[in-house]
Amino acid sequence: MKFTSTLLILSVAALSNARVLYVRQANSQSFTGALGGITATPILDSGDAKRPFAVKDATFVNLSAAVQRSCDQQFNACANAANGGTAGLSTAACSSQQDQCSAAGAA
Ligand SMILES: *[C@@H]1O[C@H](CO)[C@@H](O)[C@H](O)[C@H]1NC(C)=O
Repeated sequence: MKFTSTLLILSVAALSNARVLYVRQANSQSFTGALGGITATPILDSGDAKRPFAVKDATFVNLSAAVQRSCDQQFNACANAANGGTAGLSTAACSSQQDQCSAAGAA
């Protein structure tokens, strides 16, 4: 009985560590601009060697394609906020940020 409890505690500890590693996974999106507090979607390691870059549920074969998706998602969220009347935001500013985001990814 005591042995079983110890195993359970060790298993829970292992799961917690796995979760911490997952949450702290490196983000390959280097652009830090965030109009309206909206950051570009993180680009994470998908775990698939053939399509290693993940942006939310989509995976990509190379970083530049992933950067485009990440910057597009930031633009869409920014434009939605601007159209929704968020103070200080405009779709023109969102569009200019998107250009900067794409350029940062291409560099
Ligand atoms: C990246 O992948 C896209 C398709 O997903 C392709 O069109 C593009 O040419 C690739 N770019 C490079 C630099 O390999």
